[in-house]
Amino acid sequence: MADFYLWIKAAHVMAVIAWMAGLFYLPRLFVYHVDAQIGSVQSETFKVMERRLYKAIMVPAMLASWVFGLMLVSIIGLEGTWLWVKWVAVLGLTGFQGLLGRHVRLFAADQNCHTGRYFRIINEVPTLAMIVIVIMVIVKPF
Ligand code: HEM
Repeated sequence: MADFYLWIKAAHVMAVIAWMAGLFYLPRLFVYHVDAQIGSVQSETFKVMERRLYKAIMVPAMLASWVFGLMLVSIIGLEGTWLWVKWVAVLGLTGFQGLLGRHVRLFAADQNCHTGRYFRIINEVPTLAMIVIVIMVIVKPF
């Protein structure tokens, strides 16, 4: 499998880009959805957009990121503290995705009780995790 290392890494980065795009965009959709009146055409459109983004893009992209990432780990081994720091950030992102999934379900049932400010704040979580992860994989400071 080591011969395919760079191909696996390319697939990993592609999957990660798709995953991160969803993690950045979905909370933004929630910010706008909060202002749409329940039962309005706009609100129903947001529900479809949120469900499709979550199920058709974010879930497969997250699984692909994990599968290709673990294939890379199986080749290079568990070396370096950087990898462990990355684990923590990636597990955080995986948990964050679970939280977003919960919000998708609450919006779908017209039961959201969070404000636009809340969604603006949680929108920063993937940005912070991405900064940590990219520094870990590129700079490998420890
Ligand atoms: C889902 C679980 C993940 C695992 C198990 C994982 C694991 C790995 C491993 C082992 C490498 C190879 C590092 C090397 O060759 O030096 C790698 C590369 C990379 N990972 Fe991940 N990763 C995961 C998620 C992510 C996420 C969420 C991001 C972005 C936010 C990310 C960004 C990258 C990048 C940019 C590289 C290429 C670094 C380079 O060699 O230049 N990974 N990953």
